[in-house]
Amino acid sequence: MSTVLILNGPNLNLLGVREPDIYGHTTLADIEDMCTQSAAEAGLSVRCVQSNHEGELIDAVHAARETTVGAIINAGAYTHTSLALHDALKSYDHPIIEVHLSNPHARESFRHLSYLSPVAAAVIAGAGASGYVHAVEILAEKLRAPTTATN
Ligand code: DQA
Repeated sequence: MSTVLILNGPNLNLLGVREPDIYGHTTLADIEDMCTQSAAEAGLSVRCVQSNHEGELIDAVHAARETTVGAIINAGAYTHTSLALHDALKSYDHPIIEVHLSNPHARESFRHLSYLSPVAAAVIAGAGASGYVHAVEILAEKLRAPTTATN
């Protein structure tokens, strides 16, 4: 069975208790379960990784290059700062879906720049936890039709 990387960055381990007015009450474990179920319906398995460390996120991308077929990534604040993660993702030759629980464009200006968007096939922002499920569905669709122009 093909595997999808679900990669979450700093502070997302605190989902459910961290600023629930912005990020909701759903925990990361709940989100990972939702993704696992949605992926299984599409015939995919998931590998879930969360780290608060930039280098570990980069290592996870490198490790996924040959072992996964696509990735769903919420890099948290590294979205807005990490050229290194951008470069790592450029070496990842599979579709990437960028996800944010909140809509960074409706927030502080320092959240408006994303180093991930230029390497993402799609971006989902502001849909809360269900954005991850949509991301799995979009990724599955892209993997079913790998030669279309939107990939
Ligand atoms: C976030 C948005 C980022 O700006 C923030 O730093 C996060 C979470 C989101 O999911 O809405 O940590 O990526």
